[in-house]
Amino acid sequence: MRATAIAQPNIALIKYWGKRDVEQNLPAVGSISVTLAELQTTMLVDLESSVAKDTLVVNGEENPQLLPRISACLDNVLGSERAAVLVDSSSNFPIAAGLASSASAFAAVTVAATAAAELELPRQQLARMAGRASGSAARSLFGGFVELQNDASNIDVRSLCDARDWPLQVVVAITETAPKPTGSTEAMEISRKTSPFYDSWIDKQGVDLATAREAISARDFGALAMVSEHNCLKMHSVMWASRPPMVYWNSATMRCMQMVRALQADGCGVFFTIDAGPQVKAVCLPEDTAAVTSALESTEGVKQLMVTGLGDGARRVEQR
Ligand code: DP6
Repeated sequence: MRATAIAQPNIALIKYWGKRDVEQNLPAVGSISVTLAELQTTMLVDLESSVAKDTLVVNGEENPQLLPRISACLDNVLGSERAAVLVDSSSNFPIAAGLASSASAFAAVTVAATAAAELELPRQQLARMAGRASGSAARSLFGGFVELQNDASNIDVRSLCDARDWPLQVVVAITETAPKPTGSTEAMEISRKTSPFYDSWIDKQGVDLATAREAISARDFGALAMVSEHNCLKMHSVMWASRPPMVYWNSATMRCMQMVRALQADGCGVFFTIDAGPQVKAVCLPEDTAAVTSALESTEGVKQLMVTGLGDGARRVEQR
């Protein structure tokens, strides 16, 4: 009745922004991401602890903020008639820094809770359960390049290419460690209701998904770079034109983007992507990782860098 799982965050190249069903947390668009390797969340779920109410410990400290969403996820996985559960989580990366920590957390808790309850469920179903808690978490059930397909009635997640078959690197430039002003869940609804670009964003997503899918299948880095940056900037345009506007960037975010542009001009295989926060993720070819790392390290306003390869989907591990 106890199990531990490990999950890694993922970074979307073709982004999820907007929901078609808020209640079920179903995304309005498909998305394509890469699952990271070295950034990890390890989560123990104990169904037989003596806690009186659900308890979430994150990196050794009780975390009441994330607890309601973890409890709702446990209800969804185990049923609401369950006993109180102890969840003990640790991450080897800053969790408040807008680095998709909710994706790895909900993927890990879903895998650990089903394992603790001895439920044998197909990965697809685990992905849907994790996605109900946080849309991007569905993608962390799979490794490498992952597509979340959004059709009329359901979501379907699959790996497009194993991490080992196209071992790109991701350099994460952290420009701010304070929590972001508006969380993704709330911000997406503001965009849906107010952004004049929202409908066009939804309409054009299929084209970007097809372009990225093709680029991944052909291992065409230039084509993937172009469509990923375009999709990222388009999502941010939707956010900027929302009311109130949601501008997640700071001046260091811009400087990192300019640095990536300068590296590209020098022939480096690198492109940027940015989520609902000020951090810049530079995706690069393995041979260019050192140049990208050193350029971003010396960019004014960058507080910390993390370098990671691509990794596997969430999985159960031996009890710790
Ligand atoms: C910009 O998965 O955090 O990172 O489903 O409301 O929990 P909820 O949203 P979340 O949104 C991720 C938004 C994004 C793009 C992406 O990861 O695809």
